[in-house]
Amino acid sequence: MCDGSVTSPAGYPAVSAHREVEENEEEMSDEKTKDLKDAAPDVPWHVLRDGNRIPQLGFGTYPMDDAEAETLIPEAVWRGYRLIDTAVNYGNERGVGQGVRYSHVPREELFLTSKLPGRDHGTDSVRRSLEGTLERLGTDYLDLYLIHWPNPVQDRYVQTWQTMLEAREEGLVRSVGVSNFLPEHLQRLERESGEMPVVNQVELHPQYQQEALRRFHEEHRILTEAWSPLGRKTDLLQSEWLEEIARKHGRSPAQVVLRWHVQSGIVPIPKSSNTQRMAENIDVFDWELTDAQMERLRMMHTGISGSGFDPSVHEEM
Ligand SMILES: NC(=O)c1ccc[n+]([C@@H]2O[C@H](COP(=O)([O-])OP(=O)(O)OC[C@H]3O[C@@H](n4cnc5c(N)ncnc54)[C@H](OP(=O)(O)O)[C@@H]3O)[C@@H](O)[C@H]2O)c1
Repeated sequence: MCDGSVTSPAGYPAVSAHREVEENEEEMSDEKTKDLKDAAPDVPWHVLRDGNRIPQLGFGTYPMDDAEAETLIPEAVWRGYRLIDTAVNYGNERGVGQGVRYSHVPREELFLTSKLPGRDHGTDSVRRSLEGTLERLGTDYLDLYLIHWPNPVQDRYVQTWQTMLEAREEGLVRSVGVSNFLPEHLQRLERESGEMPVVNQVELHPQYQQEALRRFHEEHRILTEAWSPLGRKTDLLQSEWLEEIARKHGRSPAQVVLRWHVQSGIVPIPKSSNTQRMAENIDVFDWELTDAQMERLRMMHTGISGSGFDPSVHEEM
């Protein structure tokens, strides 16, 4: 039977489901996490077209399961991550929500994103899907709600978008956006609803720079968020050019890539299940790449996607 209390990952203090933290638990949490919190960088925030703010770098959670997310999210939050990216299709929203509560960082200081799957496109189905997401995360609202893929063959992304705008009016989500949308999909949303998304989360890294799409985003004040920002499923991090630049800064190739994103105005959401790499990935805000190094990274574009997914035909359910 559930008494409202929650067991915690090994070594972490327990916290009640309603976040009524006992004083002694708070102290224990402070003790265990103080060093991490003290060393955590302050991630700056962008302002979106709708006036809301979004951290300039976030934490990816695919392919973590509930148990892994529950343990790693507090670590990520203590190390300075504020934006946590999940999706119905990752199957880890419950673990993410639990991890957020274990972190003891107030909900309003965090930025939670989730994504609506293809099977829930439509009108009533959107509402049901969103309610499920909020229940699993244990929160009253999302900071950002995305349509995961446009699924153009199914062709229900416009109704889906309109229902998401209604959910925003009701305060269930603060900002609404999309993922994996092409300019033709974005233009259709504007034509039929009068409103473009504030964020488009797409596959993007130095070998796959999406320059035309980014120009379109800039013209319409859509913020570009990058998934697979480190080029998962590519040989990006083995590049000699990257290693050479990294050596000059006393940094790792992954840090150079993430600094390139941040310096380009792109919000990367790297995933790591390793606490050392988690710390490394967020440490990209107090140093800079030179113009020549940015140009060298620009020249790494091959146009080859790591995932191979083409949003004009891919149907994700
Ligand atoms: N909207 C979409 O359709 C979509 C699609 C895919 C992903 N996403 C989101 O985007 C997030 C990130 O994308 P991703 O997970 O595909 O790719 P990614 O973040 O580019 O790469 C993750 C991989 O890189 C490794 N890694 C992390 N930090 C590293 C470092 N400093 N040095 C070397 N290797 C490192 C990780 O291993 P370790 O864990 O062992 O460190 C993992 O294998 C996902 O977690 C998810 O939230 C969205």
